[in-house]
Amino acid sequence: MKISLKLICLPLALCVIATHLFAQQQTIDQKVEALLAKMTLDEKIGQLNQYNGDWEATGPVTRDVGNKLDEIKQGRVGAVLNIMGTDHCRTFQDAAMKSRLKIPLLFGQDVIHGYSITFPIPLAEAASWDMAAIEKAERIAATEASASGINWTFAPMLDIARDPRWGRVMEGAGEDPYLGSQIATARVKGFQGNGIGSPDAVMATAKHFAAYGAAIGGRDYNSVDMSLRTLWEIYLPPFKAAADAGVGTFMNSFNDLNGTPATGNSYLQRDILKGAWKFKGFVVSDWGSIGEMINHGYAKDNYEAAQEAITAGSDMDMESRSYINNLAKLVADKKVPVTLIDDAVRRILRKKFELGLFDDPYKFINPEREKTALNRPENLEAARDMARKSMVLLKNDNNLLPLSKNLKTVALIGPLVKAEKELKGFWSLDVDQNKGIVSLMEGMKNHAPDTKFIYAEGCKITGTSHDGFADAIAAAKKANVVIMAMGEAPDMTGEAKSRSNIHIPGEQEELIKAIKATGKPVVVLLMAGRPMVFSWTAENIPSIVYAWWLGTQGGNAMADALYGDYNPSGKLPITFPRSEGQIPIYYNHYNTGRPAKSDTDLFYVSAYNDLRNSPQYAFGHGLSYTTFEYQNMELGKFKSSVKGLKPIQVSFMVKNTGKFAGEEVVQLYIRDMVSQPVRPVKELKDFKKILLQPGEIRRVTFTIKRDELAFYNDRLERVTQPGTFQIMIGSASDDIRLQKSFELTN
Ligand code: BGC
Repeated sequence: MKISLKLICLPLALCVIATHLFAQQQTIDQKVEALLAKMTLDEKIGQLNQYNGDWEATGPVTRDVGNKLDEIKQGRVGAVLNIMGTDHCRTFQDAAMKSRLKIPLLFGQDVIHGYSITFPIPLAEAASWDMAAIEKAERIAATEASASGINWTFAPMLDIARDPRWGRVMEGAGEDPYLGSQIATARVKGFQGNGIGSPDAVMATAKHFAAYGAAIGGRDYNSVDMSLRTLWEIYLPPFKAAADAGVGTFMNSFNDLNGTPATGNSYLQRDILKGAWKFKGFVVSDWGSIGEMINHGYAKDNYEAAQEAITAGSDMDMESRSYINNLAKLVADKKVPVTLIDDAVRRILRKKFELGLFDDPYKFINPEREKTALNRPENLEAARDMARKSMVLLKNDNNLLPLSKNLKTVALIGPLVKAEKELKGFWSLDVDQNKGIVSLMEGMKNHAPDTKFIYAEGCKITGTSHDGFADAIAAAKKANVVIMAMGEAPDMTGEAKSRSNIHIPGEQEELIKAIKATGKPVVVLLMAGRPMVFSWTAENIPSIVYAWWLGTQGGNAMADALYGDYNPSGKLPITFPRSEGQIPIYYNHYNTGRPAKSDTDLFYVSAYNDLRNSPQYAFGHGLSYTTFEYQNMELGKFKSSVKGLKPIQVSFMVKNTGKFAGEEVVQLYIRDMVSQPVRPVKELKDFKKILLQPGEIRRVTFTIKRDELAFYNDRLERVTQPGTFQIMIGSASDDIRLQKSFELTN
């Protein structure tokens, strides 16, 4: 009886909700139309114009042109960025309320990895492979930002990056389209919470559309030249995932894609995004990218640039003034139909209505909420947890880690031992004047109050001086164990921070050699926003932890891992090269006609003569203080074939064979053995993060759907081809523990 009632009630309830949502949407659409009908052309164009506040510029600022507040009062501005805090936002919203139609402003901000509490950089969070934790981090960021006047974040950045020279690799989720898509969904859900319109949600932005991460040579802003198949297969999936998750806006990108700047690219913005994907939100340009089409050589002047951009589907102009200065004339000259402008305005107004700004323009401007929402203790704890999950234990020979809390003397050596604000990394905000950041030194002392810590800087991050080496060696000699904190400066990654040399900078690796020569056990912690090159360290130092930039709680989190209060569980979301000469290097490559049989095979095969083919650390790599054994792989019901649309089940057992409780990220890869065009040697198709107690054994099951075996053919149709598929289960892309094949028949 109960069951049948449920059966009746559930669809009914869903129906009521759907009707309600539909009615709500209808009324929003009607309100948008009613408002649009009242707007002059100038007011419409004003909605498409976005200005920077007075600071934090990442490009040329148009500050000298007029007074922004006056322009807002005249209805010439639809959104502002880099205005933070309820006081400041109020000043700007007050100005908007003095405009004829009182259309509220959007307040955009790069809330990239936290607002007041800084979370690990996005690449670090990606190393957690923990979607719930990532979603929670963004939820907290949104809760803080929305209490501070912000209603729109320019995040998540979804650019796949196969080139660690590119400075913005820190801002994304690494090299893999599947992992990137899962993270895209988690981040959008985190930022937008129960939906835009909830008081603690911010509207998210999927950026940068598209292929910005494939800048030639890893040089920021550079051109991108790629096949459309690679675009669809590797670079677009995270954006599609964000669109499917209901992301409010997209931002286009600085690069040209095969000769057409993304900002003027109708194929990307109209055909794919607004056409095939039916995206109903709006597209904001990147900073000045409309005007930059002149430098690209795509438009003669701002007049032409505005025409190209609006025609191609760029709805809002961030800081180039091309729209505000040219659209009216373009309409008068009949170069741009007013219907195009109406479409862009509609999209923007719809979001303002959905955010609830017409009901209350000050909805996110509440000083009382601002006072209590920032830096809450439970959120600091979540930041610590996220930071712990983001670290990757690259190496741990002879189980040097975890450390005992009873060690008498520990030497802390290196330029980043006392780092505080550096731990925040690039794209962090200075909301709280960097108060409350925990350094590694502080974290270590918090954990082992009875240990004597001896500190020596040893050397600077950059520079050639060895002046500090002697002190550092002396400190090491007095200690039972040495912990070295080395790495990049935080502003060596980020926008416009590409580097041709990604070795650990300066003399740091020389210092590591000098300390190792003392014969003391050495643990190296590496902090950076990208994969660095550190072959000597990788080969000679027993224990290495990659600690990225872990944010406000970095020091506590690092100490948690070093002392074993947390058992590391991170896995690399991007390949670490042995040398810059291997770049681009990624796990999901094709096989070539002459693949090397081994790392030392050079006989007329695809290999470097002066460098091994394998990476220093592969995608998916990451150790734990415990060990996991994989056993008994079974291919469900369809042992030898997958027919029609029926999914296939893959299951196996994972056992914790060590002494510590630990989390393992079990990874499922496939290979389509023969196909036209060819397929990669491995493609990640699923993963699960599981916690096992010592001795515990658990069955893990994955379901492979037919679409996961599909790919884009040369005509960009998504197809599956019959034949043999290999299914690989592993602990990393280069550590496959179990495998079986099956035949796909049509
Ligand atoms: C960056 C964007 C960012 C914008 C606003 C640009 O330079 O490329 O990612 O959102 O500035 O700060």
